[in-house]
Order: sequence, then structure tokens, then C-alpha cells
Amino acid sequence: MPFLADRLARVKPSPTMAITALATELKAAGRDIVSLSVGEPDFDTPENIQEAAIAAMRRGETRYTVFDGRIELKQAACGKFKRENGLDYEPSQITISNGGKQVLYNAMVATINPGDEVVIPAPFWVSYPEMVLLCDGTPVPVSYPQNNGFKMRPEDLDAAITPKTKWLILNSPSNPSGAAYAEADLQGVAEVLLRHPHVWVMTDDMYEHLVYDDFRFRTIAQVEPRLYERTLTVNGVSKAYCMTGWRIGYGAGPKQLIKAMGAIQSNSTANPCSISQAAAIEALNGPQDFIAPHARVFKERRDLVVDLLNRVPGLHCPTPEGAFYVYPSCAGVLGKRTPAGETIESDEDFVRYLLEETGVAVVHGAAFGLSPHFRISYATSTEVLREACARIDRACRARSG
Ligand SMILES: Cc1ncc(COP(=O)(O)O)c(C=O)c1O
Repeated sequence: MPFLADRLARVKPSPTMAITALATELKAAGRDIVSLSVGEPDFDTPENIQEAAIAAMRRGETRYTVFDGRIELKQAACGKFKRENGLDYEPSQITISNGGKQVLYNAMVATINPGDEVVIPAPFWVSYPEMVLLCDGTPVPVSYPQNNGFKMRPEDLDAAITPKTKWLILNSPSNPSGAAYAEADLQGVAEVLLRHPHVWVMTDDMYEHLVYDDFRFRTIAQVEPRLYERTLTVNGVSKAYCMTGWRIGYGAGPKQLIKAMGAIQSNSTANPCSISQAAAIEALNGPQDFIAPHARVFKERRDLVVDLLNRVPGLHCPTPEGAFYVYPSCAGVLGKRTPAGETIESDEDFVRYLLEETGVAVVHGAAFGLSPHFRISYATSTEVLREACARIDRACRARSG
């Protein structure tokens, strides 16, 4: 009898974390590595939020809390949804978890039976299909061409839905493409979903605050209130508040679903860190004035990287609406040979070549379900970005054929 569960054979460890680990290893071995693979803001957690955590510790808030989050944090999440998204939720419709990641995972454990299908627009965040597989479900990736700006067309969604479809996962702005669905895009998606009342939507709004050029963020339950009863809206403090290490995410949806997710959390991790919850209350209720300046910095970096990459022979980099990623095509370098005489046949070959030859760590598109592309995270300084793009440029010009 095998010791490890069969489902583990279907699951891959996170490729983005693997690249980051390899880059760290090469760096430790003395190589000059520039890593553009991490998915977190390079700003510190704002001071008022840090102070709230310190004060909570001093007050003795160091014990278990309610397993799915303190009422004050649930209320703060309700306030956020009302203020920013025009959505009405009660605290009993909110769950607080160890990051948005656990919210998504709890929802899947709570709802997916073997063989249930989950439609996932590609390119997708690497963890969605793996979570579905861990729940014995079937991920159904839907590819859409770059000329649609990396956004799923309603007709492609319609074609992917079967009687077994349980969820559609939406992620806007997207990791890895940075593409964001405008209101009209969401209306197109919503029209399809209204025709398929058995399909629920899990919307991952983690990058909500990182949108540029006057893009107006909207979330699907706000755009189509008739979907409210079958939408789980997921958000968190990691990206907007520079709190990736604190591990607080939250989800809002129908009470019955939220209760089921709580039952899972109460028997697995129980409450997220009490101190992080105090910090997250301050994040959601406190001053929001640092968010716009951060977004301005990210926009400048995005413009720099898009401009530099579009000068590189063989690469084409669209301008995304949000997040801190670009997802250039490397179709123009496929079939070329490296100075060492190896042919670049895939985006995976290309990123390996970049890492080995130039020390630049990026993630291959195949990991996100859409090739031939690669993902660059521009959540780092402009000096690092300039250096990385110069190295990528040299590497692409150094090909022998
Ligand atoms: C699209 C997306 N969703 C969710 C998460 C997880 O965020 P959290 O830190 O809240 O678990 C990430 C983190 O990289 C992400 O990129």
C-alpha cells in the first residue's frame, strides 16, 4: 500500500516558488542573480499597521480568537466591501483566513466533489489548478489569445461550461498577465453565467488596488447583483497593504458557504494569527493614503519595463492594466540557438537560458498555462529592473542563429 495519497501524484509544487528558491540558491553560491520572480510588494508594511500589531501584543491579544476571525475584523471587511465595492455583507457572510490562499482552498474543500469541474481562464495563478486537484476536482483551463488582452471571451467561457462545472475562477487584475476586466468585460462574463445557474464564481480580487491609467476596478457581484448569491469574493491585505508575511485574507459570500468554510478551518488551522488580525483591522479601517502613491510607483515601473522589453529583438510585451507583472511573448526567440549551440524550443528553455547565462530569474509561461510567454514581476527598484532588462536584451542579441 503506497504511503502517500494518490492525489499527491497529480499536484506539482509551486513553480514560482521553485524558481525563487533556485535563484536564491545560485545567489548563495556566489552567482550574480537578479530575481524578477517574486510576487510581493517591495515596500514595508506601513507604520500605523505595525504599531497596531505591537499594541495588540502589549494588550495581551496573543490567544486564540474565533476560528474564522474576530468580529472586529469581519466588520472591517464589511466596511471595506461597502466603501470600495458598493457591496453589502454582514459579518456572518465573512470568513478570515491565513491569506487569500487559504480562503480559496477552504472554499474548494468545502464544495468540490470528485469529478466536479472548475473553469480557470489561462494564464492563471499557479495554485488554482493544483488546489482543484488536491480536492479531487478537474481543472478546466480556458486559453484565450493575447489579442483579447489576456481576457476570457464570453463565448470561450460558454463553451467550457458543462453540467459538471461547479466554479468559474476569475482573477482581475491577473497574476501573471496583469490584465484586468473592465465593467463591460465582466458584464459579458456575467451574461454567460446567468444562463448557467449551477455555476458559482470565485473572484480573486487580490490586486484590486494596483490598477493604472484611470482603470476603474469592478468586481462581478457589484456589476451583476443577480450573481451575488453565488459569488465568493476573495481579497486580502497582502498586496495592497504590503503585508504578505502577515497572512490575512478574507472572503465574502452566502452564509451557508462561509459556514462550511469555517468548519474546515476550525478543524485544520483554526484562527489566523491574532496579532496579524489586529494589524489587518488597522489596515482596513485606518488611513488608505499610501495606496495611491504605491500604485504610481508601480505604474512607472510597468511603463519602464514594457518600454525596455519592447526594444528587445524577439520579445513583445503588452501593457497590462494592473498588478505588478508583465507577461511578454517570447515567440520570436523560439527556434533560435544560444551561443552554446542549444536550440530554444519553449518558454521553459528560454527562462533557463536567461537564468544560466545572465542570472535573471523569471517564470516560464507554461507554469501559468499559456505559452510561449514569461512572467516578470516588477515589484523591485528601477535600477534592478533596468539591469535585468539590459541583461535580457544582451541575451537575446547574443543568440547565434
Ligand atoms: C492571484 C493571487 N491570488 C492569491 C494570492 C495569495 O495571496 P495571500 O498572500 O493573501 O495568500 C496571490 C499571491 O501571490 C495571488 O497572486
